Amino acid sequence: MLLNSAAGVIGREVTNRMDARKAPPKAHTKPFFQQPDRFTYAPRMNYRHAYHAGNHADVLKHVVLLQVCDSLTTKPAPLFALDTHAGAGVYALDAEEALRTGEAASGVCKLLTDSPQDRAISRYLDAIHGCRTALGHQAYPGSPWLLAHALRSNDRIACCELREEEAGTLRRTFAEDSRVSIHLRDGYAAVHALLPPKIGTARYGRGLVLIDPPYENQLDEFDTALAAIDDGLQRWPQATWMLWYPIKRRSALMPFYRRAAAVHAKSALLCELLVRPDDSPLRMNGSGLLILNAPWRLDEALHDALEALRARLGEQGASTRLEWLREPA
Ligand SMILES: C[S@@+](CC[C@H](N)C(=O)[O-])C[C@H]1O[C@@H](n2cnc3c(N)ncnc32)[C@H](O)[C@@H]1O
Repeated sequence: MLLNSAAGVIGREVTNRMDARKAPPKAHTKPFFQQPDRFTYAPRMNYRHAYHAGNHADVLKHVVLLQVCDSLTTKPAPLFALDTHAGAGVYALDAEEALRTGEAASGVCKLLTDSPQDRAISRYLDAIHGCRTALGHQAYPGSPWLLAHALRSNDRIACCELREEEAGTLRRTFAEDSRVSIHLRDGYAAVHALLPPKIGTARYGRGLVLIDPPYENQLDEFDTALAAIDDGLQRWPQATWMLWYPIKRRSALMPFYRRAAAVHAKSALLCELLVRPDDSPLRMNGSGLLILNAPWRLDEALHDALEALRARLGEQGASTRLEWLREPA
């Protein structure tokens, strides 16, 4: 049974995406652009998404991902989606890992008991119910499952994952779905190798790249991700790009915002949810998505959803941000 295999993965430790205090010495000390091979990345490999599935960061990312997919599929041309850091594709919220952290309880579980008024949140909850109908009542869909759910029969999805166990679960989950290819490889290298997308004789003008790294290498990961985006935009400029990032203190992200604003995309949108004030540098107080070349009116589609998430998932002092770093022309 699929969920048993997803749930059976026991991590070496419970990791937080931004557990700065436990970070080892940096893997390299030069700025990323001076590294000999820009597209090969050697992350620490402790992170297991099974511990964090369905938390507030997943909720934000997956609500936005579905909105992006739904906007892109309003046009008939086939799409290609690249999920550079795919994870296991589906999780069980009653698995040992999820129960140990309890993160889903203050994330998706708070929404599952509601009848939301907001369209984007209803859309997200419908997708979860679809996943649960297929895979069991405690299932939680990861980004590969959501992409497969939201995209069409003529669209194609490539999922990259470095951990063999997660890649194995992906292979089993999508064994019957010929639209989905699984790559046991570095997702950043895949941006260079797989784009612009070409499958047989088919070329894909439109599509989506989701970059959702574990940030185990702390600030280095921002450099790595932005370098991959710079390269990828040159190779596939018309795609929509989504980069997820954790927020401890917003002020620490100023260099990232500046660099993100300078990326050569037609537009750059920030969408953030802080579930508590960003006054603690030790906790992940929220998360955000940098969305490049956002589909038309994505900001309008997300506005009310973001406010509803703040109201439902946020503690005292929670806040949101939906702001163009560069407005579409
Ligand atoms: C945050 S999780 C992905 C969650 C998934 N995108 C979702 O929303 O359901 C990050 C995943 O990336 C994997 N990973 C870490 N570094 C990677 C790399 N350089 N290339 C591909 N996968 C990587 C980790 O093993 C982990 O499963």
